[in-house]
Amino acid sequence: MGWALLAVGLLLVLYTLLRHGLSSAPRPRGRPELRGRTAIVTGGNGGIGAATALELARCGARVILATRSARRGEAAASRIRRETGNNEVLFMHLDLASLRSVRAFASTFLRQEPQLHLLINNAGVSAGGTTEDGFSLPFQVNHLGHFLLTQLLLERLRSCAPSRVVIVASSAHCAGRLRPESLGRPPSGLFSTFQDYCDSKLANVLHARELATREQGTQVTCYAVHPGFVNTSLFRHAPLWLKPLLLPLAWLLFLDASEGAQAVLDCATRDGLEPLSGRYFTDRGPRLPWAAARDDRLARALWEGSERLVGLGTAGGQRGGHGQGHPQGHPQGHPQGPAAPTAQ
Ligand SMILES: NC(=O)c1ccc[n+]([C@@H]2O[C@H](COP(=O)([O-])OP(=O)(O)OC[C@H]3O[C@@H](n4cnc5c(N)ncnc54)[C@H](OP(=O)(O)O)[C@@H]3O)[C@@H](O)[C@H]2O)c1
Repeated sequence: MGWALLAVGLLLVLYTLLRHGLSSAPRPRGRPELRGRTAIVTGGNGGIGAATALELARCGARVILATRSARRGEAAASRIRRETGNNEVLFMHLDLASLRSVRAFASTFLRQEPQLHLLINNAGVSAGGTTEDGFSLPFQVNHLGHFLLTQLLLERLRSCAPSRVVIVASSAHCAGRLRPESLGRPPSGLFSTFQDYCDSKLANVLHARELATREQGTQVTCYAVHPGFVNTSLFRHAPLWLKPLLLPLAWLLFLDASEGAQAVLDCATRDGLEPLSGRYFTDRGPRLPWAAARDDRLARALWEGSERLVGLGTAGGQRGGHGQGHPQGHPQGHPQGPAAPTAQ
């Protein structure tokens, strides 16, 4: 009996050490007053997005939950209104897997909402097939849909500056391999699902880098952030064989959603972050991303390829109406970028 109690005690100590040592859960910090500021949180109905929206609402912001399910979006908005006493929390429909839906959302938002100070590109999927637009689902939801959304809202962000775009990326970008000539096509091979997710997360970090470069001098700043390893429903589509390993690990060691939201909220609200625009943050602050995520030629090729795939920019014919490309030319004067990708 004594031995059993000792073993249980030791296990508890070990668990506490692992939980609070390895995951280094950041403590919720004091947040600034956000009354009079408007924020969009994509995927704000669950996981890290809902926790981020809750905290922004608590600080007094007007928060738009941009979600694909009206039922889940309305439910989350009403829960957040109830919990915070802030009645300016609304649902608007956005399905990032459909470029048509992204355009419809942007046009409704621009018609109904005069201001935008914070765009939190959070929604994400870890796996999936092909979208109605013909792209890999993770690539479109995690990157391409957000790319189009950001472009369509950029003029509003500029007119409300100082404003910020926060892109929820992941440390999984380390295994990303983006090829401009096959952008948006699902990768093949044994680990294609994992590769697809990592590629989309590399695109997130590069998107933040290039957007910051192009927005220099406009007071629109941009940050890519890895929220830590967070116990959410993100990996519900993980292969069956992986789940028995992943679920207990997530339950024991991962951050909870509100802890995971702290790094996102830091990028959205911390004072004095402007000089770090375009940088990659983790739950421990600014960090150097992996080499591919620091490749300016790749960042530019991804940007131009993304413009083409969503039908914006000079090659796409259809312009977004907010001055595509850099307002003052490309400040870093990139050398000739890689060959332009072809639309699918
Ligand atoms: N959890 C982690 O350990 C971790 C680590 C690094 C990075 N991240 C990143 O954190 C972000 C949030 O993920 P999470 O962990 O909070 O996962 P989650 O709980 O699964 O939340 C994902 C959110 O994205 C929404 N979404 C999915 N597809 C969408 C679409 N087509 N259109 C609009 N919204 C869509 C989901 O809506 P539904 O409820 O309708 O599905 C949900 O609200 C993702 O970008 C993820 O890559 C997570």
